[in-house]
Order: sequence, then C-alpha cells, then structure tokens
Amino acid sequence: MKNLDWANLSFGYMPTDYNVRCYYRNGKWGEIEVCSDEHIKMHMAATCLHYGQEAFEGLKAYRCPDGKIRVFRMKANAERLQSTCRGIMMPEVPTDMFEEMVKKVVRLNQEYVPTYESGATLYVRPLLIGTSAQVGVHPADEYLFLIFVTPVGPYFKGGFSSNPYVIIRDYDRSAPLGTGCYKVGGNYAASLKANHIAHEKGYACEFYLDAKEKKYIDECGAANFFGIKGNTYITPKSSSILPSVTNDSLMQIARDLGMTVERRQIPEEELETFEEAGACGTAAVISPISYIDDLETGRRYDFGPEPGPKSKKLFETLRGIQYGTVEDKHGWTTVVIE
Ligand code: PLP
Ligand code: COI
Repeated sequence: MKNLDWANLSFGYMPTDYNVRCYYRNGKWGEIEVCSDEHIKMHMAATCLHYGQEAFEGLKAYRCPDGKIRVFRMKANAERLQSTCRGIMMPEVPTDMFEEMVKKVVRLNQEYVPTYESGATLYVRPLLIGTSAQVGVHPADEYLFLIFVTPVGPYFKGGFSSNPYVIIRDYDRSAPLGTGCYKVGGNYAASLKANHIAHEKGYACEFYLDAKEKKYIDECGAANFFGIKGNTYITPKSSSILPSVTNDSLMQIARDLGMTVERRQIPEEELETFEEAGACGTAAVISPISYIDDLETGRRYDFGPEPGPKSKKLFETLRGIQYGTVEDKHGWTTVVIE
C-alpha cells in the first residue's frame, strides 16, 4: 500500500497510477486500454467542450475489515449512465464493459484504496465525452469513455455530523423537463453560483425547490434529500433530480428495517413536521441536516444539532453493507480483490 495520510484525506483529486479508456469510433466500442497519462488530447471543436456532451458517474471501492476490496452498486451506476447517454444523444456504455473497466481500474490502483480504519475510500469516476469536431449543434460521431480513481476522505468536513442548509430561490440547477435527472456537467455548472452564495452565507450547501412552482423540495446541492417522520422515510419525487443510488439503497434499507417509505412531492412547509433530515449521495453517504433556512420567508426548519437515531441506523447499515460487515441481502456489492 502507498504510504499516504489516509485519515486526513479531503474530497479532492490525487493522482494514482493508471486510468482505463475505451474509444467509440465508426459506430462501435474498441478495446479497453490502460493508460498512465492523466491528460486527454482532443480536438478543439469536440462536442464535450462546446455543447456539453459530457456525462460522468461516481461510485466507491472499500477496503473491508475482512481484507477484501468491494465496490458498491456498479450495475446501478452503469444503468444510470445509460439513461444519461439516451438523454443527451451519446452511445450507451454496455453494462459488462462498464463493470470490467471499474474492476480493472480498481485492481490496477489497489495500493491507493485507503485503509478501513481511516474511513476514507477510493472514489471511482467514470467519464464519457464527445470527442469529434462539430460546429453545428449535433451529437459527436466519436466518444471517449474513461475511468479514473482517486482516494477521498469525507465530502463534508467532520463526516457524519449535522450541517446547515439554505433554500436558494434565485437559481435553479435544472428544469422539470431538462437534464436534472441525468448526470451531465451542465447541471453542476448551473449550481456553482448558488453553492458559492450558500458558502458565503455560512451554510454547508444550497437547497433547491422545484424550478416551476418553487413549492416542493428538489435536492440539496449535489445530493438527494430525505426526511424522517415517525417510522416513515420520505423523499422527493421529481423529474428534475438525479436518481441517487444511495437514496435508492436507503429506501430499501428503510423497508428492510420495518420503516414505511414514501416517494412523493414534499411541500416546503412539510419540513417542519420532520424529526430528522439528511442529504444523501455517494460522496457524503448521509450528511445529516441541522437546519434549513428560508431567507425569503425568514423561516428556519430545525432538526437539531446532532444526527438523529433513524439517520444513524440507516447510515450504519449502509456503511456495514459497503464494508462487508452487514449481510448484503440485495447483492449490491462486488468483491474486486479477494
Ligand atoms: N444528486 C446529485 C445532483 C448528484 O450529483 C449526486 C451524486 O452523484 C446525487 C444526487 C447522489 O447520487 P448517488 O447516490 O448515486 O451518488
Ligand atoms: C455524490 O457522490 O453524492 C456527488 O454529489 C458527487 C459530486 C462530487 C458530484
């Protein structure tokens, strides 16, 4: 293993030894290539640069206490990428190719998978870009699919601790019939300013209401939202949010724990009835929410300074499955290194 300060890693980029690549040309995918160059040479008129023909994914590999390295829900990430490909006219990356490349890149960089005790993980970042030249607004003919990995610490400083959020009404990250349900770079560009404003005001992250009516909860920054009311896990149904793999897993775990799950529109005012609330995603897993401020109305929805018991239980169960210490009833993990 590399001699890195695993326990103090941030959620940032650190070079590793290899990435894996595959080119799409003449209507088909080529051979998988192993590469040690961190750069891409491409045409200046590539569609990814001008027209945002770009998609990415995010999943993690875990060094587990039993000595194995596991990755979590590769297939779900492959399927979401395929949905994104259909959404912005890119050729679909087949599931078996996606899975083979994830396994390959993790094995090649296994010395960078952080220690179990550190709480850090290896973040796996698949990227698909249109590479051939276009000046008219059309899809590219050629694409590059690559996957790199980088060891990461917690997305929010402090890991599993509660953070404040702020409702931002002046910016939308996506529209109801737009690309919010796809993992394309443009959505993140659209969120940068709102995120900056939230940080400037002292919040961990921005909180979006639905773009059309500004009435229902959409997402918290780059994460899905969930609330807990009694024994019920409630999460938004919206066409403009990313279908989070973490949220899907938490909904299943909640059911397995005997909770009721509701996926529906959540009016902003309902926030006051939740005992616990959290943001969820691969990067943060669960990031409990301490309070959400609506600066326009002056309302504060308070969930307390500490993570609640239901959020804690959901977090521990999900982490346990990811690290192979809780039974993986749904076949979510893949052992990449025995
Ligand atoms: N919402 C957005 C906008 C995201 O970027 C992410 C991160 O991928 C999520 C939600 C959480 O999704 P997942 O749990 O699949 O990582
Ligand atoms: C997530 O994994 O939850 C994310 O939002 C990824 C982010 C770095 C784009």
